[in-house]
Amino acid sequence: MGRLLTIHDLKEQHRARAPKMFFDYVDSGAYTEGTYRDNETAFQTIKLRQRVARNISERDLTTKILGKTATMPVTLAPVGMTGMQHADGEILAARAAKAFGVPYTLSTMSICSIEDVAKEAGAPFWFQLYVMRDRGFGAELMARAKAAGCSALVLTLDLQMLGQRHKDLRNDLSAPPRMTPKIMLNLMRRPGWCMKMLGTKRRYFGNIVGHVKGVDDMSSLMSWTASQFDLTLDWSSIEWVKSHWDGPLILKGIGDVEDARIAADIGADAIVVSNHGGRQLDGAPASIDVLPEVAEAVGDRIEVHMDGGVRSGQDVLKALALGAKAVSLGRAYVHGLGALGEEGVTLALEIIRKELDTTMALCGETRVTDLGRHNLWRGGEPVGETGVGAKPLMSAVGA
Ligand code: GLV
Repeated sequence: MGRLLTIHDLKEQHRARAPKMFFDYVDSGAYTEGTYRDNETAFQTIKLRQRVARNISERDLTTKILGKTATMPVTLAPVGMTGMQHADGEILAARAAKAFGVPYTLSTMSICSIEDVAKEAGAPFWFQLYVMRDRGFGAELMARAKAAGCSALVLTLDLQMLGQRHKDLRNDLSAPPRMTPKIMLNLMRRPGWCMKMLGTKRRYFGNIVGHVKGVDDMSSLMSWTASQFDLTLDWSSIEWVKSHWDGPLILKGIGDVEDARIAADIGADAIVVSNHGGRQLDGAPASIDVLPEVAEAVGDRIEVHMDGGVRSGQDVLKALALGAKAVSLGRAYVHGLGALGEEGVTLALEIIRKELDTTMALCGETRVTDLGRHNLWRGGEPVGETGVGAKPLMSAVGA
């Protein structure tokens, strides 16, 4: 392996180090994987305006996310089974985020428990929740998150039913892995992963096993989702969540302007424009293509975050220019973790920071909070001297 310079380099190292079923779990989308691919490729259609001869000697990437300072406009997204990519993965990722100064979000479907991660995480430490049939368990999870010092709740709305990821079925995905001959053969080729995994006792869904009757240790994501997630979830369910959670509430999985308006109306503090990394509704547009209209509709009432397809600092800058206040990284940091553990998460964040900083400077900007549509090239259309507040946005994204 050569030098690890990009998120793609980390991805390849992750592929080489983690068992196939866990790497594939991250590197997959639902059904045809069309939306999964579009999330990434849509960024390439957006072009930046190059501005020169500006004093770019002092630059500032800091911003506020839900009122708290972050060293860059980035958060770590909730990702299920992170602790299977590398032993104690959630703890390591939370530690790296804390040292870096960006929020970390723990998934309901994590391997390390809320309590285990809380010991290592710093504020902002966020918890992601699904609405489950067993409302008592949901309420208990919120109480545990609160007791563990989580400063915001991320409620995911787009996964009450699982979009099928074929690779997970073919790989017989479960945590921990079932010892079939095929899987054992694969694990034998991943000795580093196995040694580290044998050195931790955190190998099950830590928030769930031992807390819910009838969930056995091998419980896979698919069977758990099918049996536990509440298909009756609707907007009134958010009121139920709010009756148990009085802190900041982030609604994740918004992919439509109408839903964004409802989220703002019911008093959410932020939304995440997201199609779940292309893992749910196959055929949904890329997140970055939806972001502009959502930001335009509700950006003055509510914080708008986005995720999906972000693999570079250039992508982060494009999302900020199109109205995101913060950009959430999922695969980008998990590849770092799978490649090198905590150090890899830090490296992923450093790569993104460096790329964002350089790209911002080459756009002639010095503060992330100044970025906007005026930083996007509009395909030859006149933008005026500053470009601020010109033309409707869709022309800027080539739609
Ligand atoms: C869970 O959130 C998943 O996408 O697998």
